[in-house]
Amino acid sequence: MTTQTADARALRDAFGAFPTGVTVVTARDQAGAPIGFTANSFTSVSLDPPLLLVCLAKTSRNFATMTGAASFAINVLSETQKDVSNTFARPVEDRFSAVKWEPGEAGSPIFSEVAAWFECAMEQVIEAGDHVILMGRITSFGNSGLNGLGYARGGYFTPILASKAVSAAAEGNIELGAVLERDGEILLLGDEVLALPDCDGREGSPTDILCDYLEQLTGLSVTIGFLYSVYEGKSDGKQHIVYRAFASDGEPRNGRFLKPDALSKARFKTSSTADIVARFAAESQLGNFGVYFGDETVGTVRSVPAKVART
Ligand SMILES: Cc1cc2nc3c(=O)[nH]c(=O)nc-3n(C[C@H](O)[C@H](O)[C@H](O)COP(=O)(O)O)c2cc1C
Repeated sequence: MTTQTADARALRDAFGAFPTGVTVVTARDQAGAPIGFTANSFTSVSLDPPLLLVCLAKTSRNFATMTGAASFAINVLSETQKDVSNTFARPVEDRFSAVKWEPGEAGSPIFSEVAAWFECAMEQVIEAGDHVILMGRITSFGNSGLNGLGYARGGYFTPILASKAVSAAAEGNIELGAVLERDGEILLLGDEVLALPDCDGREGSPTDILCDYLEQLTGLSVTIGFLYSVYEGKSDGKQHIVYRAFASDGEPRNGRFLKPDALSKARFKTSSTADIVARFAAESQLGNFGVYFGDETVGTVRSVPAKVART
């Protein structure tokens, strides 16, 4: 890894500290077929005139179509639409079969069950390093009142999960668990049979209890992130509340940091642990390689037309 690549990775991780929503940007290609990709770089820009922007990687397979489109739509995903986000971030053959949609006034696909949507005329395509900025002038929009899906540090978070955790905690008998990450690897305990670190919940702040436990277990300093999963354990009947957590450098006193995508054949303590690790592997692949910060080894680099301005 060159220093430059290492810096790009570090910069991407630092950008990821900024929590955002998640959108799918849609348009039609010249044959009228729907196209779309997941984007969290959406930003509102101006009320008068009504403008918004989103950044598109030059590695996008639909780069030429997207930058040449006369109009496009932004679908702000709601908290139950994590799968839609994943589908539109992967090179899936027919992304649109995963979602119900209807054409907006200008023809761009508007999804059902989104938190909000905006249909725009392309105002400007602005050259911006390895991305372009698509600036849109809003021609119509809708706002359902549904909660938006959140995204931070390469993972999703939702108000639903937080409220599930509150009710799980109220029922007592809770187990606090962690997907403890470092450089794309996660801490697993055990040799033959692998387990995520967890401890009994007790009176007090769950994140403080979990942090103390993880620091004692590993001897590393630990930061607790967003909630990752809340479920009732099939075998123990306990309410499991699992957080993402981040460990400092150093050899852990217990357990090993392992790459989650190399664990498809591993044996896990419970099926829920296996599910969590598999889900984490799939999602971190999207976050890391898939391919918002793709480089020329991922996808096709297409030439970018000089600044295109439309009014
Ligand atoms: C949460 C999330 C946010 C993303 N945000 C962007 C973005 O703002 N701009 C972008 O070009 N790609 C972004 N991506 C990556 C694209 O969705 C991904 O590279 C997709 O495969 C591009 O599809 P395409 O090549 O068919 O255009 C994001 C991916 C995820 C999972």
